Amino acid sequence: MKTLNTFYIRTYGCQMNELDSEIISTQLQMRELKKVDDEETADIIILNTCSIRDLSEKKVLGKLFEYKKDKKDKIIGVCGCMAMSQKETLLKKFPHLDFLLGTNNLLDINKILDNILSKKLQEKRVDLNYEIGLENFFAKRENKIKSSISIVRGCNNFCSYCIVPQTRGKEVSRDSMSIVKEAKYLANEGLKEITLLGQNVNSYGLDKPNSKILFPDLLYMLDKIDGIERIRFMTSHPKDITKDLMLAIRDLKKVCEFVHFPMQSGSNKILKAMRRTYTIEYYLEKVNLLKSIVPNVTIGTDIIVGFPDETDEDFDQTYKLFDKIKFDTAFIFAYSPRKNTLASRYDDNISNTLKQQRLQKLLKLFHKILEDKYRKLIGTKKEILVERFNKDKKILKGRSREFEKIIFEGDEKLIGSLQMIDLESFSHQTLIGRLTNNKNF
Ligand code: SAH
Ligand code: SF4
Ligand code: F3S
Repeated sequence: MKTLNTFYIRTYGCQMNELDSEIISTQLQMRELKKVDDEETADIIILNTCSIRDLSEKKVLGKLFEYKKDKKDKIIGVCGCMAMSQKETLLKKFPHLDFLLGTNNLLDINKILDNILSKKLQEKRVDLNYEIGLENFFAKRENKIKSSISIVRGCNNFCSYCIVPQTRGKEVSRDSMSIVKEAKYLANEGLKEITLLGQNVNSYGLDKPNSKILFPDLLYMLDKIDGIERIRFMTSHPKDITKDLMLAIRDLKKVCEFVHFPMQSGSNKILKAMRRTYTIEYYLEKVNLLKSIVPNVTIGTDIIVGFPDETDEDFDQTYKLFDKIKFDTAFIFAYSPRKNTLASRYDDNISNTLKQQRLQKLLKLFHKILEDKYRKLIGTKKEILVERFNKDKKILKGRSREFEKIIFEGDEKLIGSLQMIDLESFSHQTLIGRLTNNKNF
């Protein structure tokens, strides 16, 4: 095999995967490999994959078939959630695949490459247990304005539809000092915004009975770090969102007023079948408490439509609640049965057509809610962190503390700074404005 000089990495799925790709890339760069944007010229191709829905896996399988026809002398590897969910079959199904690297073995990438180079056999590291070294490995970030930090890996919740507990293993909270150290490292690199990641950030610390540091405590520690201007977090499971967290959002200057807090369904019958462990009454209580403590808070949700046995009535409840809560961001998915989950034993009895109809109906409602909200925002001001240029290099883009996307015309030197924007109009899901002249905000 020729010497390795370059690698290409493609990331599917969530922010956790984006971060994991940076952990892998950093290690490859430590062995002097250069990252390239074009798979054709790369000596190593890595797909960091997602298993959350059938379509997520199909995209990757399509790629793997493509490489089968035209592998040349490249090394090809699959990382991420599919390396876990299909660990028994992928290497057999695709003999041209060189390795599988699971979500808990990210630090083994170089050992794997060495083994492939010396033994020329397929390699696989797919442990269900969290690799302790990950705790203290800080990836080099490509984005110099904002990035994420993983604070809890894995998930113990076993919602009946979800494959994540199988692909990421048990919940493990990272040591708080190591998180603070990583945040300081990012501040030192000039980053302004961090997003704390976990499948359920509210359960931070609960897996360590002797730890006194829970999620709100961690926010207090991070809020003190000079250089970091904004702190976000996701995802918050409704079952253990606490009043202390809401007070921390209210009281801490850097913690942004946006909570991604998935409802999943508006029907208690469906929530029970999903094993979400809360009722709609409980969910609404939390939403109301949050809004009373943090009046300007925005709330994001995920919704699954077409879960087994979801009747028109169940869907109608979701629709009405969606309209009542007026979610500010929403990801709406059609239910997709996943292997070895509890729900995969239920009959997937809602047709694809009906799933799509329900999805479109909710999406339409969501867009109407956004338009109504944006109309009211015109004439007001919002502070944004300026992130980057649009493709044409004329329009700058950023987000408000409440996570609204805002664009305006401005100079490159504003990138990375906080700016006040007068909101003038909107298009689709983006607010359009101009720099506020008065700098004394
Ligand atoms: N830990 C997060 C969610 C991570 S997965 C939480 O509990 O909120 C992101 C979203 O994908 C979920 O919120 C859910 O809405 C969706 N999802 C998960 N499994 C799915 C499935 N089998 N079919 C359709 N959507 C699914
Ligand atoms: Fe999946 Fe539920 Fe865990 Fe979220 S909380 S990752 S939906 S099992
Ligand atoms: Fe993320 Fe997909 Fe895995 S959403 S946790 S990459 S299954």
